[in-house]
Amino acid sequence: MCGIIGVTGAADPLQVMLDALALLEYRGYDSAGVVLVGDNRLWRKRDAVRGHSLETLRHAAPGAPTHMSSGIGHTRWATHGAAVERNAHPHCDCTGRVAIVHNGIIENYQELWEKLAAEGHTRSSETDSEVVAHLLERELANGAGLAEALRRCVAELRGDFALAAVSTHEPKVIAAARRTSPLILGQVDGIGLVASDIAALLGTTRTLYQLEDDEIAEVRPDSISVVGLDGRDRELKPLKVGWDLVAARRDGYDDFMSKEIHEQPRALADTLMGRIHADGTTELEDLRLTEVELDGIERVVLIGCGSAFYACLSGRIALEHWARMPAEVEIASEFRYRDAVLGEQTLVVAVSQSGETVDTFHALREAQRRGAKTIALTNVVDSLLAREADGVLYTRAGPEIGVASTKCHATQIALLQLFALHLARQRGTIEPEEGRDLASRLLALPGLVDRAIARLDDYFSVADRLAEVQDVYFLGRHVGYGVALEGALKLKELAYVRAEAYPAGEMKHGPIALIEEGAVVVAIATRGRLLEKVMANIAEVKARGATVVVVCDEYDEATKAVADHVLEIPAVPELLSPAVAIVPLQALAYGVARARGNDVDRPRNLAKVVTVE
Ligand code: F6R
Repeated sequence: MCGIIGVTGAADPLQVMLDALALLEYRGYDSAGVVLVGDNRLWRKRDAVRGHSLETLRHAAPGAPTHMSSGIGHTRWATHGAAVERNAHPHCDCTGRVAIVHNGIIENYQELWEKLAAEGHTRSSETDSEVVAHLLERELANGAGLAEALRRCVAELRGDFALAAVSTHEPKVIAAARRTSPLILGQVDGIGLVASDIAALLGTTRTLYQLEDDEIAEVRPDSISVVGLDGRDRELKPLKVGWDLVAARRDGYDDFMSKEIHEQPRALADTLMGRIHADGTTELEDLRLTEVELDGIERVVLIGCGSAFYACLSGRIALEHWARMPAEVEIASEFRYRDAVLGEQTLVVAVSQSGETVDTFHALREAQRRGAKTIALTNVVDSLLAREADGVLYTRAGPEIGVASTKCHATQIALLQLFALHLARQRGTIEPEEGRDLASRLLALPGLVDRAIARLDDYFSVADRLAEVQDVYFLGRHVGYGVALEGALKLKELAYVRAEAYPAGEMKHGPIALIEEGAVVVAIATRGRLLEKVMANIAEVKARGATVVVVCDEYDEATKAVADHVLEIPAVPELLSPAVAIVPLQALAYGVARARGNDVDRPRNLAKVVTVE
């Protein structure tokens, strides 16, 4: 969470930072701020009006001093300290000659503050981050250069962080460091750059480098040098870039979410194409696990958070059904702290759009520590998870900027299903004919999602009728349960409507007590072996006064007849239905959120990338 940008050597560093911050805003938008360095002084501007702070900075730009050498900027998702201006980054030291921006959490900040306070430092925010500015002040006073001061300071920090710092002592230098939270470096035509994210630098340069854990960089207009915590020189490591800037723009859509909903067929096609051949064989290019290693796998544990976790639920069903592989699903943040029993016969698949989610990352490390083999299933090439895992499965969805996951969720499901087919063939648990058939059905998914998207206006008109809804219950069984969970999450996070998802069969074990006249129930009632049972569950809630919305197959008149509102999708083979059935629920949440005037790309309290626990 939080976006960081640093620039040195540009004619107009402020403009470069503002452009980059606009591309980074999806990482957090509680506040934003910039510092410029030059003329032996710092110029700082910050604002904390949620989602609008960048506008304030833009308005302030004409009043900024010119001829400044460099600057750092930040867009914040608040952790320590409320989302108010005094807690907005950049933070300064006591002298006002050092400024820092930070992403992550400094776990021992209280302890460090006590020492600094005893030395006479005073703080002006409630953040954990500010401590770094004062530690730098102390080291600079001891005679260190900025990068060396940051190296000494990093040695004292516990936690996960990405940091960039400037000072009036060396106005052309940006010092940067990281541990777990990502930070990348760039260089072009006498301009040095630092950013938390590739998206921020694509418009400026494609010559990018990655910084590893506990490395400290000194970025100047025409040079970048990197040292380790031990002070020894490290090599600059080039970074692979898979996207272009155009892909990170709205392209005439009202918002990124709507663009990304429409991009799902393409994202699915790109994820599947070239990986399934006409004869039904599969090829997963970055899997990096040999056939012998895969043969040795006796159990798969799928981990993720939020929508990624819900994608894992569909993955588990596919692994069990086609590959006859024992499979479990775990929320990464819980898995990490359990005493999970893992060994070298266990494969842990960590699913994460960003490849940065700190819970998933630490869970993957924990799995490795316990001897399991690991795969990262991610959308971001060379992301933290991709670099850490033994093998990688890349979704090829392109950048997902809207905070609520849409195309990445759909591609995660499809790629897990493709992986299940891959394992099924390898383990001989499906006949070649069945494998061919399954491959062709998987390849038909983009077209089916496209047909669901063609019905978006129908879905939006149901959303309009439900715009005032208060409480919604999502019911599903088997593959439909994961869809129900994801549908409820979308409605919560975008429309701020209380929404709960239950396996439909569980209702009568308690939650049905909540159903009364006016309750809204969304049931996933697509054709499959449990449709009759879902219909019985629908009857139970209808009998108690619920308004029922069904997601069902087109031409399924019997199911439509029991519903108050219908969200039709094209008929899809049961196990493959989640990537299609989720489309009307994305649209439902989008429509209700828009009707309520909510910002669908930047819902309150959220950030796209979750780099804190
Ligand atoms: C919800 C959503 C989140 C993410 C979760 C994990 O729409 O996007 O629930 O799925 O924060 O993020 P990644 O996939 O980046 O690990």
